[in-house]
Amino acid sequence: MISRWTVVVDRDDLTKTEVLHDELSPELGDCEVLLRVHHVGLTANNVTYGVIGEMIGYWRFFPFAPEGRGVIPVWGFADVVDSTLDALPAGTRVYGYLPMASHFVVRAKLTSSGFVDTADHRAELPAVYNSYLVTSQDPAYDPALEDLQALYRPLFLTSFLLADQLQDNDFHGARTVVISSASSKTAFGTAQCLSGAGVRLVGLTSPRNVEFTTSLGLYDTVLPYDAAVDVEPSVYLDFSGSADLRTTLHDRLGDDLVKDTSIGLTQQKASADPRSEFFFAPEQLRKRTADWGADGLAQRFGEAWRAFTAQAAGWVSVARHSGPDELLEVWQAVLAGKANPDTADVITF
Ligand SMILES: NC(=O)c1ccc[n+]([C@@H]2O[C@H](COP(=O)([O-])OP(=O)(O)OC[C@H]3O[C@@H](n4cnc5c(N)ncnc54)[C@H](OP(=O)(O)O)[C@@H]3O)[C@@H](O)[C@H]2O)c1
Repeated sequence: MISRWTVVVDRDDLTKTEVLHDELSPELGDCEVLLRVHHVGLTANNVTYGVIGEMIGYWRFFPFAPEGRGVIPVWGFADVVDSTLDALPAGTRVYGYLPMASHFVVRAKLTSSGFVDTADHRAELPAVYNSYLVTSQDPAYDPALEDLQALYRPLFLTSFLLADQLQDNDFHGARTVVISSASSKTAFGTAQCLSGAGVRLVGLTSPRNVEFTTSLGLYDTVLPYDAAVDVEPSVYLDFSGSADLRTTLHDRLGDDLVKDTSIGLTQQKASADPRSEFFFAPEQLRKRTADWGADGLAQRFGEAWRAFTAQAAGWVSVARHSGPDELLEVWQAVLAGKANPDTADVITF
């Protein structure tokens, strides 16, 4: 038997956590592959998976928690430890959507870049989360950049697609983009993608994060949340989910607020507002895959990713942790908003 640990959280109270231990059968079914999670990144995005777990279906990816509790998904690297497929022998390293657990089993259907997990419980869930890259088949993979990939790649894909959608729509006629939670990685990745696009980028952030956000050099202006923005035609990109900030911006800008897009909820309150449109990266991914083909998209994303990683290593330093107990410490710090934006957490399982 294989001993596995799993970190579970209460679905109704993400601060309540437990490390559970169970035994996995070594017997694998047809096309099944046993993965050992190696290392993952942990940011506010993972907290969002818990906050809107019911709404989007995030609890259903790794359904091995007891009733009322759930396994938070994380992004990172895992290694094949046992396999029924010759193409995925033990030792194969893969990148993708992983559980907060030492091991899990996928039912792999091979693709040109790796495989898709075709397990029944994942069939209805967005395809982007079910695809795994085999690192030796990924042209963008660089072993020296594994930490950056675990931390930023899922976030930067959203940044890239969001910036692309704005440019595709000529910024809805505006020449200013106002961005909340500007210190978050997905937000400043978007700002990086928009540099040189001919728009003024205004970052809004907590007073304590103004200095860090300014130091990135990605925004034309960085303001604390309580400062007034200039009244001019603007697009709002909301990563904070703050209902108060949304109302303040609508009241101040009026008709000059030409587009209001919700991307995140770092403040952990899901409050739908008809004035705002939700941006869900997998939808834009489907659109651009249809427009450009998978290869065209991969090539454009690859170029943007290389430009981003060349700069990103200097912006945020990586703090390394290991094992379920340290994973829980990082989880509680990220959940409580205590993590510093100049440090990003990578946990080896
Ligand atoms: N729609 C999509 O497809 C999609 C894809 C990727 C990410 N996202 C979302 O984008 C957001 C940012 O994710 P990330 O991983 O890039 O974040 P991150 O880098 O971990 O962001 C950290 C920042 O978030 C704010 N924050 C963190 N915890 C907080 C708390 N407890 N209370 C209040 N503010 C808090 C602070 O920024 P400030 O002081 O600047 O507010 C902090 O500096 C998340 O909500 C994520 O779910 C959405």
